[in-house]
Amino acid sequence: MALSQPVDSEVSSPRRPRVRNPYSRLPNWLYPAFVVVALSLFGIFAIWVVFFQHEGYYAPYLSPFYSPLIKVGPIPPGVWVAWAPLVFRLTCYYYRKAYFRSFFGHPRSCAVPERAGRRYRGETVFPWVFNNFHRFAFYATVVQVVFLWFDAIIAFDFGGRFGIGLGSVLMLANVVLLSGYTFGCHAFRHLAGGDLDCFSCSLAARARHKLWRGVTVLNIRHDRWAWASLLTVAGTDIYIRLLLAGVLHDPRWVL
Ligand code: FES
Repeated sequence: MALSQPVDSEVSSPRRPRVRNPYSRLPNWLYPAFVVVALSLFGIFAIWVVFFQHEGYYAPYLSPFYSPLIKVGPIPPGVWVAWAPLVFRLTCYYYRKAYFRSFFGHPRSCAVPERAGRRYRGETVFPWVFNNFHRFAFYATVVQVVFLWFDAIIAFDFGGRFGIGLGSVLMLANVVLLSGYTFGCHAFRHLAGGDLDCFSCSLAARARHKLWRGVTVLNIRHDRWAWASLLTVAGTDIYIRLLLAGVLHDPRWVL
């Protein structure tokens, strides 16, 4: 987000000029506040599900936090799998930008100077240096997305009969949005088209160019895929939990 140069009328004090986002009429604090609230709520919810819940399956629906379902003794199933997508989000280029700015104000934004005495060193120091492992989290998450597609297909199978329930629709929407988020990843875009000097010099290079263009289509709106899929992951899990608790009845149509 680029910020405009302060003009005389916007200067509230000689020491701290007030700047305004030229691309939005919304107050500057609104976006960071939204990021802090949304990510905090999701983080607390994810910890509760992963470490304190043992059930996430209501036939034929499986919570995305538990896929693939691995049960070993008293250890909650989410512990085995949820680390991959959570690390993937934590190290995502878009989320990094969002939480660095919103939680820490460090850096505050493009072209906005750091506060006195602070120097932004990016991902070169502990613990942020671990963000450079994002590509490996991508590999693990791709495996999980394959399982989620399998779960979404199974969610239309009601004891051997094809059917559509609200849960089936939710699970399908969730995996579509997660795929859009995962395959629009900046690291994947680099894997597809990076490190190449010529896109047209060989069959393989031309294929990579096509793949790169496809990834770019998803990558352009990576932030929106990120938020939408975060919402459906939580929403799908909550829906299954409400079914398990008997609070909701799953409307379904079975052939
Ligand atoms: Fe966001 Fe990779 S950059 S998922």
